Amino acid sequence: MKPITILGIESSCDETGVAIIKATALKSGFKLTVTDHLLHTQIALHAQTGGVVPEVAAREHAVRLPQILHSLGEKYGHKKLARMVDGVAVTNGPGLVTSLLVGASAAQTIAYAWQKPLIPVNHLEGHIYANLIHGSQNKKGAGLNFKFPLLVLMVSGGHTELVLMTDHLKYKIVGSTLDDAVGEAFDKSAKLLGLPYPGGPALSKLATQGNRQAISFPRPMLDRPNLDFSFSGIKTAVAVYLQKNPQANIKDVAASFEQAVVETLVGKTMCAVKKYKPQAVAIAGGVSANTWLRHNLRETVNNYGGVEFMEPNMNYATDNGAMIAAAGAFRFWHGKKLAWSKLKVDPNLPLK
Ligand code: KG4
Ligand code: ZN
Repeated sequence: MKPITILGIESSCDETGVAIIKATALKSGFKLTVTDHLLHTQIALHAQTGGVVPEVAAREHAVRLPQILHSLGEKYGHKKLARMVDGVAVTNGPGLVTSLLVGASAAQTIAYAWQKPLIPVNHLEGHIYANLIHGSQNKKGAGLNFKFPLLVLMVSGGHTELVLMTDHLKYKIVGSTLDDAVGEAFDKSAKLLGLPYPGGPALSKLATQGNRQAISFPRPMLDRPNLDFSFSGIKTAVAVYLQKNPQANIKDVAASFEQAVVETLVGKTMCAVKKYKPQAVAIAGGVSANTWLRHNLRETVNNYGGVEFMEPNMNYATDNGAMIAAAGAFRFWHGKKLAWSKLKVDPNLPLK
C-alpha cells in the first residue's frame, strides 16, 4: 500500500472540519499523521437556541467551508495542494441532510476540479478510525493498527452502539440503544440542570465536584443479558428527582447521573467482551471525550486482562475532519472510492 495524502471534510452536524492526513503503511502498523486540522465550531451559534437548528447549521457550513478550504489553498498554493492530495474524503452520512449536502457539494467540486477520486466515509467509521491517528495511543514513532476482532463502544450525540470489527472496514452492530443516545441523555439532563448548550461537557465538568454515590439513578438494562442500551429512563429519573427536590445539589445530581451512565456503558461493554472475546476494545464518538468514562473503561478492560484498550486523542474525539481523512485513507487503500458524480448522501447511512 503506497503512502497517500487525503483531504477530509466533515459537516454532518454542527462542526465544520477540514483536515489533511498523510497515511503510510509501516511493518509495525499504520502511521496517520495530521498535517492540517481546521475546525469551525457552531457552538456559540446554537447556544442561542439551546440546540442545533438544521437550517441554521447548514447555512453556517455553507459560509465557513469555502473559507476554510480557501485558507488551505493559500497555505500550500492552490495548484500545489491539488497535486499533493490523492483523494477527497467526505462524510456522506449519517447526520443532518442539509449539513451533509454542504460538505458533499464542496467535496464533489474539489474532486471534479482536481480530477481526484471521491471517498465517501460513514461518520461513525470516522470516529472509529480516529483511534489510529498518530498521537492517539502512546506508542512513540511506531505504527498503529487495530487488533481484530475489535469491539468498539460507539458513543455520540446520535448513536450508542457496540460494534464488532473482524477486519478493516468490516462492521457488525452487536448492541444499540432502544431509545436515546448517550450524548442525548447527557445534553437533555444538562438542560434540566440549567446548564448551557452543549450540555455534555458542562455536566461532566460539574460532576467532578459532586458525590457520585449521592443519588441512586437507574442502571438501565444492566441486569439483562442482552447488549442493548436504554437511556431515556435515566434522563426521566433526573427530571423526577429535580421536581421532588427543587433544592437539590446539582453537583451531586450531575455526578450521580454520570456514574449511572458510565457503569451502564462499562457493564454492557464487558458483557460483549465476554461474549465475543475480542483482542482489543476501543472507544469512539463525541462522548469518548468524557474523562470519567474513558478512565473507568480503560481500568476495567486492563484489569480484565489479555485485551488491549484503545482511545482516540482528545483532539479527535468529537467531530472533526481528521477522522474522516483517517477512515478515508483506509477506504482509498481498499479501493472504495468513487467518481465525483456518484456520491450520494444518506442521513440514516448504516455502518456496514
Ligand atoms: O460525535 P459528536 O461530536 O457529534 C455527533 O456525532 O453526535 O458527539 C457529540 C456529543 C454531544 O451529545 C456532547 O454533549 C457529547 O458528545 N460530549 C460529551 C462530552 N464531550 C462531548 N458528553 C459527555 N462528556 C463530555 N466530556
Ligand atoms: Zn460524531
